[in-house]
Amino acid sequence: MEKDIFAVHRPQWRTHIGFLLAAIGSAIGLGNIWRFPYLCYKNGGGAFLIPYFLALILVGIPLMILELGLGHKMRGSAPASFASISKKWEWLGWWQVTFVMFGIVLYYSVVISWCLSFLFFSFNLGWGNDPNNFFFHKFLMVSKSPASLGDLRTPIIFSLLLVWLLNWIIVFKGVRRGLERANKIFMPLLFVLTAVIVFWSIRLPGAKEGIAIYLKPDFTRLRDVRVWMDAFGQIFFTLSLAFGIMITYASYLPRKSQIVRDSFSISFINCFFSLFAGFGVFSILGYMAHATSVEFGKVVKESIGLAFVAYPKAISMLPYFPRLFGVIFFAILTIAGLSSAISILEAFSSAIIDKFHYSRKIVVSVLSVFGFLGGIIFTTQAGLYWLDIVDHFLTQYGLILAAIFECIVLGWIYGVKKLRTHINHYARWHLGRWWDFSIKFVSPLILFALFISSLRNEVLTPYAGYPWLAIILIGRDWLIYTLFFAIIVAAHPWRVEPRERESSS
Ligand code: ALA
Repeated sequence: MEKDIFAVHRPQWRTHIGFLLAAIGSAIGLGNIWRFPYLCYKNGGGAFLIPYFLALILVGIPLMILELGLGHKMRGSAPASFASISKKWEWLGWWQVTFVMFGIVLYYSVVISWCLSFLFFSFNLGWGNDPNNFFFHKFLMVSKSPASLGDLRTPIIFSLLLVWLLNWIIVFKGVRRGLERANKIFMPLLFVLTAVIVFWSIRLPGAKEGIAIYLKPDFTRLRDVRVWMDAFGQIFFTLSLAFGIMITYASYLPRKSQIVRDSFSISFINCFFSLFAGFGVFSILGYMAHATSVEFGKVVKESIGLAFVAYPKAISMLPYFPRLFGVIFFAILTIAGLSSAISILEAFSSAIIDKFHYSRKIVVSVLSVFGFLGGIIFTTQAGLYWLDIVDHFLTQYGLILAAIFECIVLGWIYGVKKLRTHINHYARWHLGRWWDFSIKFVSPLILFALFISSLRNEVLTPYAGYPWLAIILIGRDWLIYTLFFAIIVAAHPWRVEPRERESSS
């Protein structure tokens, strides 16, 4: 008789809405609020929405179904799920959760700590008359190059400590009492606050011009391959795909789950949230251009500058309640960031618990300490450079490579039809054969083409003009070390064989 893995004890979401909110909370993050509007502006306004939504349909949704389906079938974290397919592929799961835990979440939490600091600065508009000088020279005290680390920025370390304390408390309490409960508070709050900001901003003078620039299509930009790379890279980042998170979250679902419907809901809600938040961001920038009579192109700088320089400047100029506006805006960023950071911590913790059977409390506590300590490098005066390089390598190469391997393992080794049969066993929305085609051919081929053109660009011009040595030592090596770590952990024996987990449906 086949083993029924749903009878094996594993934490489970209390409610379906709890799972949905947690998955949406992981997807909606810092990337939606400042990265998306900026990319949209940089890449041809409304025309960027074409590659963006194509990326969502062609790769984003098929991979979301794959990850939720895989986690649900194997009832395990990413390493456990891949090990259930074949021990040879366990490293892939470890690699995902490792470069996310010891890469992305380290600097991601530092950016949340900046948001938290700016939330407090909002009470007295502490950035003064020159937010650019304040952010780069007084707050970050940015050094001259990635090699000159300079001093640790104590105020940032304190808010980072607070961020890790919150990450720790939530994940420590477990799936129901921690993640589910936190997201049930975070997500409604996030939606309400965002609606307040958007409706507030679109009534300001100049807002219409700002929105027109946000959405005005410049189709000539679509000839540039970098625009397409940005769109696909953003879809992975924003949907938390190839992070190992969605696999883990789906492993806590009950037997009768609607994988297809949930994948569509999570993906569309996330992308429409980005679109909606963009109206707020561009309205306020339009207002700023109007109030200062400065050309719009000059008020938008690079993405980090958008949230921490352009926005504070605009907030200070508001005719009514600028402090309140600032508090709400930075609270939105902080909440969105936290709900994503906890999902990363959970994905790694769950992997360790599955493999080594340590207690959740110990695992989460140790990881939170490591997370805090690991983040300290990004609180030095060279932190901004390090953050930029690590982010570039992990999102452009790590996520894309991990996703290509996912497609190969599921599409060609495990057999995507087997997974589709499992998903359809419970699904009210029937998953058709188009999905097999997408996982076997469309997604990996598109991702591979992007990977190659990224690599080509990289070789031709060093990323953002950084010295080659810095790019190799910080960016490339970060990926390689996490890969070594993944291979070593994967070689360690299991206490309970992962194959025992697979659902018999
Ligand atoms: N999905 C998260 C974000 O967009 C990581 O920020």
